[in-house]
Amino acid sequence: MAERTRAFVTGYPAKHSRSPMIHNHWLKKAGIDGSYEIAEVAPEGVAAFFSNLRDGSSGYAGGNVTIPHKQAAFELADHADDIASELGAANTLWVEGKRLMATNTDGYGFAVNLDDRAAGWDRTDTAVILGAGGASRAVIQTVRNRGVKHIHIVNRTVSRAMELAKRFGSNISAHPLEALGEVMAGAGLFVNTSSLGMGGTDVPDIDFSPMTEGAIVTDIVYTPLVTPIMALAEKQDIRTVDGLGMLLHQAVPGFEKWFGVRPAVTDELRQMLVLDLEKGA
Ligand code: ATR
Repeated sequence: MAERTRAFVTGYPAKHSRSPMIHNHWLKKAGIDGSYEIAEVAPEGVAAFFSNLRDGSSGYAGGNVTIPHKQAAFELADHADDIASELGAANTLWVEGKRLMATNTDGYGFAVNLDDRAAGWDRTDTAVILGAGGASRAVIQTVRNRGVKHIHIVNRTVSRAMELAKRFGSNISAHPLEALGEVMAGAGLFVNTSSLGMGGTDVPDIDFSPMTEGAIVTDIVYTPLVTPIMALAEKQDIRTVDGLGMLLHQAVPGFEKWFGVRPAVTDELRQMLVLDLEKGA
């Protein structure tokens, strides 16, 4: 009898991860006798965890990696693709022979979510990205790779924004929060990657009116589903896209690698997650 395929999500903490809900739904739909489980690992145990993954002793085909292990996953992998290498962080691992392979699907999830809900989002010349933490990197990389000519990173600590502008290319500029009004002129895309408004906390008043006609505002945070920044944009009649689709779509490539079937992000799955988020709110 074939061995049961197992995959994991590791992080610290990891117990609140919604990834098992997504992958176990797909396993059931595809009729695969596999499992996807939470493997919470403290930072001091992460090297051994990845080593056991590589040599097969853990019994996993691969898994997802979340905070704070994304850098370690990249560093400890035997091979990382170009996307993960430029980010210096991996969120998806799998084993090929005796080699631990790594990629980062956060940017893919971000882009496909927007493709799905706001097709043509990447036709704009100018994007504003708020925040310069770990989560902003994949967004900057993806928006750049989709060909958006001017990318403004706006951050409370401008030196962090400058660091990322330098890292990701010459068409990217860094600005302090006070410059937000100015850089918004002519932008067709605004992405919040900062923790502003996370958990429903207050956000400063942002004027989206200088953005172009049909501009899109999106948030990579999905708790709450309509974040304060999105609510602010909606009040100003600006189109918004929530961040839940990014979570769903970033999971697709990993599932395909481990279980051999490309899963679909359906309304049914999304609704399941929405209900769970409402329960947890
Ligand atoms: P992550 O890796 O999840 O992105 P992070 O590195 O802590 O987390 O980054 C959080 C982002 O939210 C940063 O851009 C941070 O700004 P600083 O670089 O100045 O710290 C931003 N942020 C958090 N709280 C903020 C606040 N109250 N006002 C403005 N920006 C805030």
